[in-house]
Amino acid sequence: MYCYRKVTDDLYWVGSNDRRLAMFEGVYSVPAGVSYNSYLLLDEKTMLLDTVDKAVKGVFFENIAAVLGDRKLDYLVVHHMEPDHSEAIWEVVMRYPEVQIICNKKTANMMKQYFNFDVDSRVVLVKEGDSISTGKHNFVYVMAPMVHWPEVMVSYDTTDKILFSADGFGTFGALNGALFADEVDFERDYLDEARRYYTNIVGKYGDQVQALLKKAATLEIEMICPLHGFVWRKNIGDFIGKYMHWSSYAPEEYGVVIAYASVYGHTENAAEVLACRLRERGVRTVMFDVSVTPASDIIAAAFKYSHLVFASTTYNAGIFVNMESLIFDLVAHNIQNRTIALIENGSWAPTSGALMRKEFEKCKNMTILDNTIRIISSLQESQLPQIDALADAIAASLPQAAKKQEAPAELKEDTGKLVDPTAMFKLSYGLFVLSAKDGDKDNGCIINTVMQVTDVTKRIAIAVNKANYTHDMIKKTGVFNVSVLTTDAPFKLFQHFGFQSGRDADKFADFAESRTANGLRYVPEYSNAVISGKVIEEHEYDTHTLFIAEVTEAAVLSNTPSVTYQYYFDHIKPQPQPTTDKKGYVCKICGYIYEGETLPDDFICPLCKHGAEDFEKL
Ligand code: FEO
Repeated sequence: MYCYRKVTDDLYWVGSNDRRLAMFEGVYSVPAGVSYNSYLLLDEKTMLLDTVDKAVKGVFFENIAAVLGDRKLDYLVVHHMEPDHSEAIWEVVMRYPEVQIICNKKTANMMKQYFNFDVDSRVVLVKEGDSISTGKHNFVYVMAPMVHWPEVMVSYDTTDKILFSADGFGTFGALNGALFADEVDFERDYLDEARRYYTNIVGKYGDQVQALLKKAATLEIEMICPLHGFVWRKNIGDFIGKYMHWSSYAPEEYGVVIAYASVYGHTENAAEVLACRLRERGVRTVMFDVSVTPASDIIAAAFKYSHLVFASTTYNAGIFVNMESLIFDLVAHNIQNRTIALIENGSWAPTSGALMRKEFEKCKNMTILDNTIRIISSLQESQLPQIDALADAIAASLPQAAKKQEAPAELKEDTGKLVDPTAMFKLSYGLFVLSAKDGDKDNGCIINTVMQVTDVTKRIAIAVNKANYTHDMIKKTGVFNVSVLTTDAPFKLFQHFGFQSGRDADKFADFAESRTANGLRYVPEYSNAVISGKVIEEHEYDTHTLFIAEVTEAAVLSNTPSVTYQYYFDHIKPQPQPTTDKKGYVCKICGYIYEGETLPDDFICPLCKHGAEDFEKL
């Protein structure tokens, strides 16, 4: 019996579910099954969007027949040629011989590799920006290479504002009667599977996903119809936010993944001891036995958490086989921006530590802690200080707010989250160190405009003077940190970051090394919060650029009050001394004195870069 669902008045889901599949794509376990989504539009022309895997094509064709009735099928759109969506194409062509296939050139070529029917005679080729009308609906085609194969494209229905997103925005799991994400408790029951789907299927292609998201940001999207998992019609911004986060390779939460490979339990024992020492320091831990837990689950956890510990016995003079496979897979999935610690074991010639290190050295922006622990057969009591030292090193690299038991009482909710929502409460009309990085060069400047724009997803706006070097870095890299300064910040800190240019000085040279997950410096002393932003929009206003950014990380650093602009003027900035021998104007921000009868309207303070409006007559 057919089993379809209505998506809109004239759009139908005609896909199906498979709960018998042991391994999706031969490698990813799908204990809750998987859905193959296909959509059928009944407009003046009828249009089928993608097909399904051969395992479920029986009910798929029943669905098409039931929805079409006595109408013919005019178009089949092929967004993605991977067989889980294309296997039934040949049968569509046999059953509906008049159908025309809308696809791009790469797809057409692949189709010839898979099928023997005359592809050229029935394809309608589209390229970036092309559109096709079915009557009431108009579809625009957007190329999305490597999300997740090179031929992938998505389409956008400009009439109903629906994005048909191919593999993008998919989720593992059969639909169980629900079609829309808002029909289930997605965050509780499916978010982990969505993350596992993303990281394993397209995690390697973060740059390409970001490119697609950039294109999608120009569209008004009211619904997303992916090829796996639920259709999105509510809270779309939240899920897009997740994709922005995941594709940036920034961890979502502070915490330590401990993955161990242990033949007789001794390496496992060392991992357990480390986990205990970390928990005693208030650090969140999750543990996996790589011989038991599928690699796809561990990869998803590695994308979620900030710190990764790998403990492996030596096996055939190398890394234990399951651990080696996991690490190769992680490196292949482009894991980056993590802190790594290693434990090796071996009864006569331990080699796994050095070999694991070598693999992770191939990754971008990894901090591999020096103190690899070497176990000879089993952990000895004399080695417990080494475990303590490793736990100390890991705990020291986490912000205070991530260490649950040490956090102030009011921060105990939500600790461990990479974005601590309470960090937003520190924002005021205050003063901030804005930091950025270009290549090896770190820099920072003082700004006075940071505001929260949205809550779900968390976004902030910052206004930055175009004369600042940090401004140019953010323009180039799209990422920044804001350190929220406190009332105990001394004037020399404002002078240091505000009254000299990073083009001439290394402003972080004398500061202790403190970086957030995005690799940027921040100022832990005299700051009560640090907020990391990834730019999603820019607006130019004469002297300043307004950057709108998604918050990728936020942590509370202290409970000292934020400095406000007023407090700075009243209590921190030295008051200009009365002068009788100088005529001119004084900068209210930094105290610079301009000597002269008239201050030009377009004058910019050479120290703090504020304009003439911030000067007053001496
Ligand atoms: Fe769902 Fe890339 O196939």
